[in-house]
Amino acid sequence: MPKHVQDIQKAVDWLLQSQKTVVFTGAGMSTESNIPDFRSKSGWWKQIDPRTVATTEALTENYQLFHAFYTARIQALKEVLPHEGYHVLARWEKRGLIDLIGTQNVDGLHRKAGSDAVEELHGSIHTITCHRCGKKAATSDFTHGQACDTCGGKLRPNVVLFGEMLPQEAWQRTLKAIKTAQLVFVIGTSLDVYPANQLPMMTDGRVVVINKEAHAGYTFDLTIEGKAGELLVHMDAIAQK
Ligand code: APR
Repeated sequence: MPKHVQDIQKAVDWLLQSQKTVVFTGAGMSTESNIPDFRSKSGWWKQIDPRTVATTEALTENYQLFHAFYTARIQALKEVLPHEGYHVLARWEKRGLIDLIGTQNVDGLHRKAGSDAVEELHGSIHTITCHRCGKKAATSDFTHGQACDTCGGKLRPNVVLFGEMLPQEAWQRTLKAIKTAQLVFVIGTSLDVYPANQLPMMTDGRVVVINKEAHAGYTFDLTIEGKAGELLVHMDAIAQK
């Protein structure tokens, strides 16, 4: 049996044996839903310097570009549906096979596919607040370029910008789950961004990576190279037997 097939079978065996499994996802989980990731050759950061849009300096000093970037991402998400790999994870949660998904993604696709136990470590693009007073606002207020109707401050999506703190509850819940997990799946992430990239190393359990490319400098219990959606569907077919 080819090693790749053996590895997929092993990953499913571990999933079925594990008493506590956590899934950690990144932007590579959404590219098969036609959402660009960040650091692949077709990724966002290959087209635009993240410092010009994904920082609080960009928000305060260059609001026009900040607003255009996040408005474009919000509009692009309107047509997007979670691919089958997302539905596999939602089904595994219902079957009691996975306990929590900690995601770096802000697109909301895990919940859209029916997963409930989801922690958004980098926030969500789907909620808007005033950067000055914190008051909630409608997405349309942001996309239409309106200012906060209370203090006149700049509106922004609740995504974690570079240099900002991660939502502490989401962090603590994900860290606690990973620490006590017997199995952690790391799916579609470059592991380039601190501190989220530390999470997979915080477990005493096994770590299985599913990624288009292997991670240089890391060693995991299993690395399965390929497309997340395709591999999850393949694993689910085996897990059904
Ligand atoms: N299947 C599996 N892996 C994939 C797929 C796919 N269909 N498509 C892309 N990948 C892999 C890429 O090879 C890459 O290793 O997913 C990874 C995506 O890495 P990044 O683009 O760096 O995305 P991510 O790791 O989520 O970035 C972390 O950086 O810019 C910030 O806040 C942003 O949350 C993001 C964080």
